[in-house]
Amino acid sequence: MRFEIITLFPEVVDHLRVGLLAKALDKEAVEVEALNPREFTHDKHRSVDDSPYGGGSGMVLSPVPMGAALQHLDAKREGPSHKVLLTPQGTRFDQSMAERFASLDALTLICGRYEGFDERIRGMVDEEVSLGDFVLLGGETAATTIIEATARLLPGVLGNAHSAVEESHSTGLLEHPQYTRPATYEGQEVPAVLLSGNHALIARWRRKEALRRTFYRRPDMLATATLTDEDRKLLAELEEERA
Ligand code: ADE
Repeated sequence: MRFEIITLFPEVVDHLRVGLLAKALDKEAVEVEALNPREFTHDKHRSVDDSPYGGGSGMVLSPVPMGAALQHLDAKREGPSHKVLLTPQGTRFDQSMAERFASLDALTLICGRYEGFDERIRGMVDEEVSLGDFVLLGGETAATTIIEATARLLPGVLGNAHSAVEESHSTGLLEHPQYTRPATYEGQEVPAVLLSGNHALIARWRRKEALRRTFYRRPDMLATATLTDEDRKLLAELEEERA
């Protein structure tokens, strides 16, 4: 999959060259290109922004270099790309959006800086996405977060194909607690069931603990999780336990 970032700070992509993502880039399972809209300016100061029409403080990113950068990428790439503007006004990013993006051939992420974008930049994109209800200095960390969450769902990026399936959020529940050696650490014991070798019992325990964790930490997720009759019974027990 190809990721493109339009940013005044193309060095942000260097942060992606670590761990499994560095390996995925090396074996070309993932491709990342950062393009600076300043390359598409022609004035002496190479300005990408200007003062707002109607007055007021701050600067506004011009649609001219942004549009030229997008056209440059479109001309260079084989197929189309899904274009996303990063802004706190966008739809909140989550795991299901990462799954949707992972099915694309190309994703173009446009980062803002300064006070805002000329409204006509909004007309150049397919959707607007936010990382959450807070304001960053620019969209760059949002872009790298989205790339990381999306790329790890692609075939060949995670070593163990199973590990993206059972984790928090992809099952609709938070993940169950995990333990490794030693069996006792500073008086804290690993739950005996995990040492029992009984796979059916272990699976039941894990499901129960995933439900418990979700019930206490993220009850909002239970409204959309796929639950069995046994899950519902367990949740009823948890309700009683808390009462
Ligand atoms: N740019 C500034 N704040 C942002 C946010 N919360 N999400 C995405 N892009 C942003």
